[in-house]
Amino acid sequence: MTDRFQSHDAWRPAGGEAFTLAHLSDLHATDVRLDSPRDVLNKRALGWLSWRRKRRKEHLREVLEALIEDLHACAPDHVGVTGDLTHLGLPAEIEAAVEWLERLGPAERVSIVPGNHDAYAGAAGAERWAPWRAYMGDADARAEAESAGDDPATRGFPWVRRIGASAALIGVSSARPTAPLLATGVVGDAQRARLEKQLGELAAEGRTRVVLMHHPPLPAGQSRRRQLDDAEAMRALLARAGAELVLHGHTHESHLDEVAGPHGPIPVIGVPSSSSIGHRPARRARYHLYRVEPGRCPDGAPRCRLSWQVRGFDPESGRFAAEGDEKLA
Ligand SMILES: [Fe+2]
Repeated sequence: MTDRFQSHDAWRPAGGEAFTLAHLSDLHATDVRLDSPRDVLNKRALGWLSWRRKRRKEHLREVLEALIEDLHACAPDHVGVTGDLTHLGLPAEIEAAVEWLERLGPAERVSIVPGNHDAYAGAAGAERWAPWRAYMGDADARAEAESAGDDPATRGFPWVRRIGASAALIGVSSARPTAPLLATGVVGDAQRARLEKQLGELAAEGRTRVVLMHHPPLPAGQSRRRQLDDAEAMRALLARAGAELVLHGHTHESHLDEVAGPHGPIPVIGVPSSSSIGHRPARRARYHLYRVEPGRCPDGAPRCRLSWQVRGFDPESGRFAAEGDEKLA
């Protein structure tokens, strides 16, 4: 692994242990089985056609099997999946996703946030994602209680999972049902308020903070149809509260960006789909392995040293292998 972010000249170790984190996304690793025509009423009719025509030929079981084999060989300390585990967010797909989540590792070492496909249509929220609860942070009755009056899509979010004595993962939901042909997301005022408070509390504990979310908190570029509607408010929040790393999916491409933080830039990294056969090579399956070394600035603010490796699917060998660093930067 190559050192890519020596974030601060005066960085010093926090005394906590470094850990490795595998970042996967947009697995779409479920078959769509329709039990009733009602399953494809509304927006799901278009989604079902897209799955029949395109997606089921792109996201393949053989790639997922190679991914699981490589993950086991690399043995990261933790696995983070930034959403879109399913195609249409049907209850049977939510259940089916658990079958392969269990193969990634024990629930206390695998963390997920939902994506727009998981919230495709109908009610989205705690009830829909109940089978995934064990993968959504430490049990936190306070977060559930504080979000009780919220939009159901953001109840129980952000979740927090503390890692050892000096790091934490924070899972933000940007997933909610949208109108046909839209794949937008939103974090929402109430969830952002909770997120800012949590980031402050975790900084006070001296923890390196890794935020997982599906939509990138970046300007939309060409695709307003797929944007995070409150990306600007999220960037303002990160500039005030800080985080040491933000990981996202959704774009199906590798991205390395930065947003402003209170103590310097915060890396924002996107990973492509980790299950795509890659009929377009730029979209071939990848995942990222990060080594996160918690540290502090001289003023005590958390600051991590970060390095990473890109691992990609090779269709010839049918296996994942390390790719060059330039693939991400
Ligand atoms: Fe997405």
